[in-house]
Amino acid sequence: MIQFDQVTKRYPGGIDALKNLSFKVDKGEMVFLAGHSGAGKSTLLKLIAGIERATSGTVLINGQNLGKLGGTQISYMRQHIGLVFQDHKILFDRSVFDNVMLPLDVIGFDRREAAKRVRAALDKVGLLEREKSNPIRLSGGEQQRLCIARAVVHRPSILLADEPTGNLDRDYAHDIMALFKSFNQVGVTVVVSAHDETLMNEYGRRIIRLAHGHFTA
Ligand SMILES: Nc1ncnc2c1ncn2[C@@H]1O[C@H](COP(=O)(O)OP(=O)(O)OP(=O)(O)O)[C@@H](O)[C@H]1O
Ligand SMILES: [Mg+2]
Repeated sequence: MIQFDQVTKRYPGGIDALKNLSFKVDKGEMVFLAGHSGAGKSTLLKLIAGIERATSGTVLINGQNLGKLGGTQISYMRQHIGLVFQDHKILFDRSVFDNVMLPLDVIGFDRREAAKRVRAALDKVGLLEREKSNPIRLSGGEQQRLCIARAVVHRPSILLADEPTGNLDRDYAHDIMALFKSFNQVGVTVVVSAHDETLMNEYGRRIIRLAHGHFTA
């Protein structure tokens, strides 16, 4: 499902954010990504999502070599991926409902079916009663859940989350992790980066640890 083969990512300026990484994530796995600030966690997730491209090596997603895909094909591939990223770009000029509707608008989904899906996603994250609210009125944790609803509304087969529990207190972090686990239990492949190893140990079977772009034990 996700396969890296000797992947190196060098950013302009000469920093090797990832060095010669090879690993595989099978369909239906839930994997955590751990490591210090600057270890390469976000970079690794961006390579999976096709937001950044590998400098060398190959990234295969569902058997497709991302290095060989053009822009349109990458956008198409991304329809199978849900992203919960650090700079979560909530749009504050529209409602909670409309924020979650966005990804379905982009792929031109039937409006009635889309509305059902939006409500199902909001219900799943416990925000159905807030659908008409402006997201500015949501707490940080609720905004995080809004982002998760938006990431899963198109029913991706892969869900990527970059430190989704970063600014949340422990109880809330547990809720969020339980939510990811529930998506995993219905077959979604989940990759989550985080700092809190005790939390990861409670929810994950597999932890990938990065230090300075390398794997560590
Ligand atoms: N767009 C960029 N241009 C140049 N260097 C970058 C860029 N993005 C990241 N880097 C560098 O690549 C390395 C890995 O960064 P990355 O953001 O992947 O780390 P991280 O593990 O996600 O860190 P954090 O826990 O702070 O989010 C760092 O040295 C960072 O400075
Ligand atoms: Mg990061």
